[in-house]
Amino acid sequence: MPSKEVLLCVNIDHIATLRQARGGKEPDPIWGAILCEQNGADGITVHLREDRRHIQDRDVRLLKEVVRGKYNLEMALSEDIIRIALEVAPHQVTLVPEKRQELTTEGGLDVKANFEKIRETILRFHEKGILVSLFIEPDIESVEFSKKAGADFIELHTGTYCNVFRTPLMEKELERLYRAAHHAIEIGIRVNAGHGLNSENVIPILGLAGLEELNIGHSIISRAIFKGLPAVVRELKDVIRHFTH
Ligand code: PXP
Repeated sequence: MPSKEVLLCVNIDHIATLRQARGGKEPDPIWGAILCEQNGADGITVHLREDRRHIQDRDVRLLKEVVRGKYNLEMALSEDIIRIALEVAPHQVTLVPEKRQELTTEGGLDVKANFEKIRETILRFHEKGILVSLFIEPDIESVEFSKKAGADFIELHTGTYCNVFRTPLMEKELERLYRAAHHAIEIGIRVNAGHGLNSENVIPILGLAGLEELNIGHSIISRAIFKGLPAVVRELKDVIRHFTH
């Protein structure tokens, strides 16, 4: 059982999704961020998408003032968004692929195909003291290119594993994740994970070598509708603590 504390960064995008459904002011993701941190979240994650379907520029700026723990901004390799991120200066940016038609981030970043652009973008963030994480598929080649590009962290995409959780295909997906994390630690790049996780399927993920942070959003906000955000964050944090100590 891993003994290092694994941090929980709550992705609050879907509080904004609900707000945008009516184009009004509630529910306010800023208030959501405060509640998450008051109830044990170690940080807050948001994705400023090019189509602004949920999080808005105003949210990104206000969160910089409000978040006490780690502030992680997910973003595509788009010049407009890069400029906003450099100006706001969160603690960390996570570079993700983005397609307009997708419902959520599908697949990891193709670090090899976008190598020069990624390397140059990482340098720009590093000049401002901003950490950079790359959201990648759990394969050795992507881990190696992430290291070569100069990223501080990889975030291993757990989506495929979550889709096959408790099916005969689960072991193979877990094995891919374990191998990718192990390789990352061996070559000196730090490890985060996320996508599709909840309080059940997260347990085997806590066994990833060197795991530092989890980014979890949809399951938290969904369950919060029935149980309330404070209770859901506290329970998830308890699960993470229980299975890492
Ligand atoms: N990590 C990254 C890079 C993501 O793009 C997302 C979804 O925005 C998440 C984690 C959180 O995924 P979920 O909402 O399924 O928990």
